[in-house]
Amino acid sequence: IPVAPFDLVVFGGTGDLAKRKIIPALFRRFVAGQFEEDARIIGAARAALSGAEYRTLAEEALKEFSAEYVENSKEVAAFLHMLDYVSIDATGDGGWEELKAKTSTDRVQAFYFSVAPSLFGALAERLHSYQIAGPEARVVVEKPFGRDQETAKALNATLAEYFDETQIYRIDHYLGKETVQNLMALRFGNMMFEPLWNNHYIDHIQITVAETVGVGGRGAYYDKSGAMRDMVQNHLMQLLCLIAMEPPAIYDADAVRDEKLKVIRALQPVAPHHIVRGQYEATDTAPSYRDDAENPRSFTESFIAMRCEIANWRWAGVPFYLRTGKKLRARSSEIAVVFKALGHSIFEGDTGPHRNILSIRLQPNEGIDMTVTVKEPGPGGMRLIDVPLDLTFAEAMAGTDSPEAYERLIMDVIRGNQTLFMRGDEVEAAWRWTDPLINGWEARNDVPKQYVPGSSGPEDALMLLHRDGRRWRDIK
Ligand code: BG6
Repeated sequence: IPVAPFDLVVFGGTGDLAKRKIIPALFRRFVAGQFEEDARIIGAARAALSGAEYRTLAEEALKEFSAEYVENSKEVAAFLHMLDYVSIDATGDGGWEELKAKTSTDRVQAFYFSVAPSLFGALAERLHSYQIAGPEARVVVEKPFGRDQETAKALNATLAEYFDETQIYRIDHYLGKETVQNLMALRFGNMMFEPLWNNHYIDHIQITVAETVGVGGRGAYYDKSGAMRDMVQNHLMQLLCLIAMEPPAIYDADAVRDEKLKVIRALQPVAPHHIVRGQYEATDTAPSYRDDAENPRSFTESFIAMRCEIANWRWAGVPFYLRTGKKLRARSSEIAVVFKALGHSIFEGDTGPHRNILSIRLQPNEGIDMTVTVKEPGPGGMRLIDVPLDLTFAEAMAGTDSPEAYERLIMDVIRGNQTLFMRGDEVEAAWRWTDPLINGWEARNDVPKQYVPGSSGPEDALMLLHRDGRRWRDIK
């Protein structure tokens, strides 16, 4: 469905995120016909570039990061035609009048703050004082949204001085992933899952976000964050919320976010022995985490596994095991809902227990599979085996083009739909849960366990489940 004509101003328009994600995402939506040539996309940054130079920069970005570039030369020209640039001094007065002349409060206006959070206040203040942003204007901000509850609160307060909560779009790109939304369709669009979605039938839940890349190149940022701040506080927490939340009465931004907030509030403190932190070692050919971070004494974790609990009627007694890390065996993200074993088997000699496992694959090979127990084919009697019922989206939905996270999220901003964005209170509540855990290990000088690159993380992470008589799913 096409969106209304818009002005999108990208602060930090020459930066990495703009080149890798924002510009290619807009291009793809344009090729798909989602907006017309009357849209205006304005890069704004410190560099003194002309409009023509910015279009060249954008075209280079498309060449490098957009698969559609090659076959769509006509669209490339039309797309670039919509791009403009203003050289701006975020904390001074340079460029603001020029920016004002290029955007109109009569159109949908979106201001994307793809800059350091320390600049949010200065930008918001100038958009206001120069009367650039109209009353309906939207601001888009990226993570990291603070580094603890206090800083997140301060950022929220700064934005709130100039914008209403309904105008603020806090991006967590995991919420834009196709399968993540499918999670809601699966739970609330089918009869067969929701009745079983509780501690009577579910034994435990595993959420794994495994990456093969290290932190090379981003070491300076990452070493101040670690996996907890970089991945758990936002992405894994969002996944956990969608899995665990109560059904909202309607699919609407605040109804969904109210339910997610309740989950975060019900999360229990995690005891230190239920957290395993790791750092990848060097190999013969690749540097260690500490080399990548250029910090030989770093205690920052590039891997974390933890056992969490949600204290409410639905989930009491059901552990949620979370793990994420860099330089693991495969790039593979999955949510696995492991059902309880049958209480009694009628099949003599059966080597059970068999379990149904619902696996929701985020990447790669987005899809869902369900392990079911069936009879092994052949005349050998009632021998049971577990097989997956596989729904790989690429096969099932062949011919439908599934947009990438940023495409969907940016179009939602233009449409004014906040469902897939984090509300201020949600972000603060998430920090309220992670802060004591981080403070705890910092106070203890907890040293992360070393792990071999290409493995599943430190041995201790395996023990986290073994102790409970369970095991992690393979990372593959
Ligand atoms: C980002 C993190 O938010 O998400 C990165 O800062 C991480 O460290 C990335 O690599 C993972 O995103 P995706 O979409 O590749 O799973």
